[in-house]
Amino acid sequence: MKTLLIAAAKGGTGKTALTCQFAHYLHLMGHLRVLVIDLAEPACSTASLARAHRAVVLRGETLMAQCGGLRRNVGAPGLWVLPAHAVPALCLEPGADEARYYANVRHLLCVLAAFADVCLIDCPPLPDLRTVCVESMVDAMVSPIQLSREALDSAACLINAAWGVRNVRAKLNPSLHFIGLLPNMVEATPLHQANVRTIEAQFGAWLIPDPGGLDRHLCIPRFGAIAQAQAAGVSVSELGKERAARRAWQSIRACFEALAGQLELDELHGEDHERDDASSEVEAFHA
Ligand SMILES: Nc1ncnc2c1ncn2[C@@H]1O[C@H](COP(=O)(O)OP(=O)(O)OP(=O)(O)O)[C@@H](O)[C@H]1O
Ligand SMILES: [Mg+2]
Repeated sequence: MKTLLIAAAKGGTGKTALTCQFAHYLHLMGHLRVLVIDLAEPACSTASLARAHRAVVLRGETLMAQCGGLRRNVGAPGLWVLPAHAVPALCLEPGADEARYYANVRHLLCVLAAFADVCLIDCPPLPDLRTVCVESMVDAMVSPIQLSREALDSAACLINAAWGVRNVRAKLNPSLHFIGLLPNMVEATPLHQANVRTIEAQFGAWLIPDPGGLDRHLCIPRFGAIAQAQAAGVSVSELGKERAARRAWQSIRACFEALAGQLELDELHGEDHERDDASSEVEAFHA
């Protein structure tokens, strides 16, 4: 199971929208078994994914039983969401033991690894300890940012702060693949275009190259269709044939193809035969 953390050092940059829309994409287009872990408060990814019943919501008491259900589904695509409040192990009370929280989350990911191909994790903005814990154990991380002055400052923290990517990679998670900064809600206004130039100058190496080659780096424009799809709890691809929705889908689809490429999800097809073995090793995790 590939694990991807969608994190930012600022609220409102589009973490939840990216988590949900990428989850829909991997499920509907990639035909994968996709698990979303929702550590954010409120649990907006859970609310969106459950709204139109596109995802099955996993609940704590019955999690292992439901994992049995997932197991019967071995090989079949699916979309599941696990909100943090459903599992005590995923909640970090004030004053709680952080090392124990880290161990619990790590163990939970090990247990769930048998049931999903990809796990996307939505989280509170950094430097929330829950997010730092997850940052130090996932395979990959991507950071949506907005093109405001404050967002540019927060991007510098995301990379250079004590809990930033450089330090986490140096001290806690050497194999963390930081896919990069992903400018989101980009508009064709003079201010946004000026901020794009600033970000290219300051953080060029941290942007995600666009394999399609149309732009130098990946970004997601501001599309009303994304907010609309999130509110309806569906994929942008399901919004219908209106021109605006089709344009939005074309654009984010290209971006998601590139993200999936960065995660090297093609390798997963070779893992199919290993799934049965892995799922027989399930054990209860300590809540
Ligand atoms: N590219 C986009 N175009 C238009 N609207 C967008 C886009 N990306 C996100 N949005 C909308 O912007 C709002 C904020 O996005 P979202 O809730 O995903 O941010 P967040 O980083 O998860 O916020 P928080 O830190 O509060 O959890 C939502 O209404 C979402 O639907
Ligand atoms: Mg959110």
